[in-house]
Amino acid sequence: MESAAIPQEKTERKKRILVADDDPRVVELLQITLTSSGYEVLCAADGAEALELATKQKPDLVILDVKMPKSDGFEVCESLKKGEDKPCPPVILISGQADASSRLQGLLRGADDFLIKPFSPRELLAKIERILKGFEESRGFSAASVKLEEQIKRSELELERVNSELKRLLYSKDTLISLSQQLNSSLRLETLLDTFLLTVVGQLRVESACFLLAEDWDSRVLVPYVSKGVKRELVEKLHIPFDSAFGSTLASHERPLDIDELESYPEVEKHVRAVAAAGFILCHSIHVKGRFIGVLLLGERVHGNGFTPLDMEMLTSLSSSAGIAIENARLYNELQETYLATIKAFVNTIEAKDPYTRGHTERVAEYATAIGEGMGLPPEEVETIRFGATLHDIGKLGVYEQILWKPTALDEEEWRIVKSHPETGASILCGIKFLEKAIDVVRHHHERLDGRGYPDALNGDELSLNARIVCVADSFDAMTSDRPYRDALPVREAIAQMEQKSGTQFDPKVTETFARLIRHGNIKIG
Ligand SMILES: [Fe+2]
Repeated sequence: MESAAIPQEKTERKKRILVADDDPRVVELLQITLTSSGYEVLCAADGAEALELATKQKPDLVILDVKMPKSDGFEVCESLKKGEDKPCPPVILISGQADASSRLQGLLRGADDFLIKPFSPRELLAKIERILKGFEESRGFSAASVKLEEQIKRSELELERVNSELKRLLYSKDTLISLSQQLNSSLRLETLLDTFLLTVVGQLRVESACFLLAEDWDSRVLVPYVSKGVKRELVEKLHIPFDSAFGSTLASHERPLDIDELESYPEVEKHVRAVAAAGFILCHSIHVKGRFIGVLLLGERVHGNGFTPLDMEMLTSLSSSAGIAIENARLYNELQETYLATIKAFVNTIEAKDPYTRGHTERVAEYATAIGEGMGLPPEEVETIRFGATLHDIGKLGVYEQILWKPTALDEEEWRIVKSHPETGASILCGIKFLEKAIDVVRHHHERLDGRGYPDALNGDELSLNARIVCVADSFDAMTSDRPYRDALPVREAIAQMEQKSGTQFDPKVTETFARLIRHGNIKIG
């Protein structure tokens, strides 16, 4: 029969008690009493020896006579309680004096109990047992409490970490949803890429970011489009041909690539070194339906931490969204331009038949665009002005050619028909979504600041800035072109006349900008 292993009983260490009294009889008595009760006893004859033994031998309990040479019991008790040894052993003070002030002083110095001489050994043993039991319990509580506190602290830290990660995930989700909405609603490539980069910088907390993109579907070189947090001159050098080793590496990887790692490959070194010199440390290629079209470059993290797997996933997700949005924007732009070109072809057909208005639309669009840019308007607004100016006279498609090209003065009815062209133009364009904003220009390019224009006789603030700009551009071209009934005015004369009408017919700021652009040679005439 196999014998069961007998567990080793743990031998409990004897409790160690330090006894300090200058009376050897008392010490001897205590030693006998305590040893016979199973305690290990340490003895000291004065305060200094008691302190030294307490420090070195770590007793479980200390019994101190109040009156002792060198340091009395109060002082030793206080030193022990204030000492660095924790937990400090319990202290019982013994004294021949039964006065209340000694007892009080002892308790104030930290003693756990007080015993008056003479005392019975049973009384002392009962006190020792009670104090040690209480001390053990409190140590147990204290250890459990420390453990619990540590556990709570760990839980708090974990909770904090999970909370912060959760917040970040929620924020990321919201940001991605909001970005998708913006990307879907913004079809202007520059605006779209700008929004994209701002989101990347904020979301991935990077110091810099840059977007290199092939200029069009046929281009085989990546060039900088938009950048944040990096000097323009460093970015401008970044041109990456598709057929370079770096271009091929990017094209064949649809995941984040570490610039540091790539730098060790000599074949890609040239381009990668320029990318690293601009402060970028990570890149992600942009693909549209498997076709490589660009790369997103990222700089250091703002707080110096590395990218987490979540960051990498987010980067891949953002790059994929950007690819789709870029394709949409390009297709939409191509569609817009095709549509615009068709309408322009109609207008040109009319103009081409009339030598007096040939090229008028092109010139008005050119002047109006220059004024918009000269006034520092946002690119989207300048684009609306360009569309509006290009189409401003489209309503003339509805005016009989014999009226438009009549070499003599028009009668009242003919004038009424000619003056209907802004309204006719607006109704032709009505319903075409991307030309919505340009309709205002088409309808109001013959209005005047003083309210004497047509068709709505708008005045002052009712007239939009875009319409005021096209009014100036249109009038200037009309004045500087030959007409059947008069010769073209010299540029200087036309500008002088327009300045005279500034504030009544024309907007003063627009007129002043246009005159300045011409005088500085920013607009070439003729
Ligand atoms: Fe017109």
